Amino acid sequence: MIPGFGSSQIRYDMFDLVRDAEEARRLEKCERIYHRGQEMAWDGKDILPMLLEKHGGVRLDPDKRKPLMQVFAIILWGELAAWKISSQLADRLVPLEAKMAATSQAFDEARHFYVMYDYLKELDYKVEPLDRAPQALLDLVLEADQLPYKLLGMQLMVEPIALTIFQTVRESGIEPVLCELLRYYERDEARHVGLGMQYLPSFLAKMSKREIAALFGFQVRLMALAMAELKFMEKDLRVLGIDPRTIVERTRKKQLAALQEALSSLGVAVGDERNYAAAALNAVTEYAFPEEALREDKPARLRAAWKRFWFKDPLHDASEFKVHEHAIKTVHGVQ
Ligand SMILES: [Fe+2]
Ligand SMILES: [Fe+2]
Repeated sequence: MIPGFGSSQIRYDMFDLVRDAEEARRLEKCERIYHRGQEMAWDGKDILPMLLEKHGGVRLDPDKRKPLMQVFAIILWGELAAWKISSQLADRLVPLEAKMAATSQAFDEARHFYVMYDYLKELDYKVEPLDRAPQALLDLVLEADQLPYKLLGMQLMVEPIALTIFQTVRESGIEPVLCELLRYYERDEARHVGLGMQYLPSFLAKMSKREIAALFGFQVRLMALAMAELKFMEKDLRVLGIDPRTIVERTRKKQLAALQEALSSLGVAVGDERNYAAAALNAVTEYAFPEEALREDKPARLRAAWKRFWFKDPLHDASEFKVHEHAIKTVHGVQ
């Protein structure tokens, strides 16, 4: 095609795609994510050396070094995946405000990636490919072509998993430099969930029932891969003193809160229609990560799984993310 003729990637309609006041309000929130990202930006080349000096370097039991490194190697490549996906969204989302939010996320994820790499080098990390289970989860979202799949997969499903791991590792106090660093990560990731909550509804509103069912089929596949990933991490988490069940329970609450927030703007409540695939997966998860007392008792685990299959999760709201609002040292001072 001759440049300047025919269709163009410059979308002159990017300012006037809003359908109603409700969508305008959500897009305003997207725009705030961008500006908030600027206000809250922190400098990884300042913060990590500051924390290393404050705590006298990395302080960790030698037998916990490898498990910690293995868990955070998954996080490292997850940050790269988040960087790529937010860049894809920054390119392909059309409305100005949503594009701005995705762009600021890409900026944050680049920082998360290089700072995590710098931290892992302190543990003598050498780059090696991820195991199949964690990679499959990231590939599923990276390879999804449609934007609502990426938004649901990254912002509403994967980010809450990362937030949960960060929160739980931080509370464990396992390694002081990392635990303080994770406060910075949590602050950013919680903002990223916001883009999914605010902009996914704009896609859902235009999708047919069949398309929405297919999207939630994708969500169930993603949850199954997330469970496989957690099973893969289980041994390492236990050495670090973290019960994987805590991760399962907290992740579920955060994911439901994010999804509920996205669906509520369309006047739909999560769980209005029972999703048997998701319920079955919840039951399998209950069986795979039982309560401590039931770990050796197979029949009791089966009963707990059956109960979980019929259990309807209570509604959660965005207040689930308040716990991540730590004061951090930004480039504009502590806030
Ligand atoms: Fe991140
Ligand atoms: Fe993120």
